[in-house]
Amino acid sequence: MNYQASSNRYDKMVYNRCGVSGLKLSAISLGLWHNFGSEDVFSNARDILLHAFDKGITHFDLANNYGPVPGSAEETLGKVLKQDMGAYRDELVLSTKAGYHMWNGPYGEWGSKKYLVSSLNQSLKRMGVDYVDVFYHHRPDPDTPLEETMGALDLIVRQGKALYVGLSNYNAEQTQQAESILRQLGTPCLIHQPRYNLFDRWVEDGLMEVLDKRGIGCIPFSPLAQGLLTDRYLKEIPSDSRMAKAHFLKESALTDVKRNAIVALNEMAAKRQQSLAQMAIAWLLNNKTVTSVLVGASSTQQLDNNLAALDNLSFSAEELSSIEAHCQPVLQG
Ligand SMILES: NC(=O)c1ccc[n+]([C@@H]2O[C@H](COP(=O)([O-])OP(=O)(O)OC[C@H]3O[C@@H](n4cnc5c(N)ncnc54)[C@H](OP(=O)(O)O)[C@@H]3O)[C@@H](O)[C@H]2O)c1
Repeated sequence: MNYQASSNRYDKMVYNRCGVSGLKLSAISLGLWHNFGSEDVFSNARDILLHAFDKGITHFDLANNYGPVPGSAEETLGKVLKQDMGAYRDELVLSTKAGYHMWNGPYGEWGSKKYLVSSLNQSLKRMGVDYVDVFYHHRPDPDTPLEETMGALDLIVRQGKALYVGLSNYNAEQTQQAESILRQLGTPCLIHQPRYNLFDRWVEDGLMEVLDKRGIGCIPFSPLAQGLLTDRYLKEIPSDSRMAKAHFLKESALTDVKRNAIVALNEMAAKRQQSLAQMAIAWLLNNKTVTSVLVGASSTQQLDNNLAALDNLSFSAEELSSIEAHCQPVLQG
């Protein structure tokens, strides 16, 4: 093994308890949705993963379908574990998910026990691990009884294939129902993963309250609105950016209203001696229900920039209200 993790990796990172569980997560976690697939450059993906761990990030988030091609982000992680990080497995919190389309036929998506168990078995093989730390149901299934889906999560934990379970993209009511079933089964819901950022506040309409009351941790995804809440698109659309390369972030997302808000927020961040990305992350971490912020990064430089959010996590009342004033036109649009 060539890789030796930095000996001071735990010195600067903050670790927050996930809900009322015994598990702590790094305040910043790394997601492998983009930049870690078989169509990306492996050496860059490896550099980002090792750099993240060296900086105290312990939590790495995946899903069966991350790539492209689907499944290949898990293979990349598996490769890095095998050649570099395997000795540190007990210092890592690995999560994966199932819910979106993964293979053809009636058992390749949604929330049946058949799909969830098969999908996790495939994920474990791709990553080359015996278990994941967290297994999520990726999206609610309108047709499968919630008892079956939650029963599958409970089974997976009892089989030792996951230590904890989570929900993603469930609304407040669905979360309440799922949490009750899981609690009755004896497998508590550890964590919820919703989209949440300055420009997307749907979670504030009931979900955060449920998470708080039920002692469930929250790990917001796309905290930078896929790069909009950074300096990436202040002037133009860079050719190596997600907007230029991937269909998940369309040019139409960069409306004039959003552009104005980004410029204003960027100026505010500069006054706080932060980048816009850092301010957007700090704003989420300022919420006591948020356990960890799940960022993406296409380079180690971006990751470093994001990690420096931890240097200034506090906001004055004036700053918070001026952030709200700048975001209002976007939120109303
Ligand atoms: N549960 C779900 O349904 C779901 C859905 C989506 C995501 N997720 C999870 O959340 C993770 C994060 O999502 P995301 O990638 O959309 O998060 P994000 O942090 O909002 O966006 C990440 C992208 O923003 C740009 N960026 C990051 N830091 C930057 C910086 N400091 N300066 C300039 N640009 C920067 C990069 O884009 P460029 O490529 O342009 O450089 C990067 O790929 C995913 O990997 C996945 O694990 C979960």
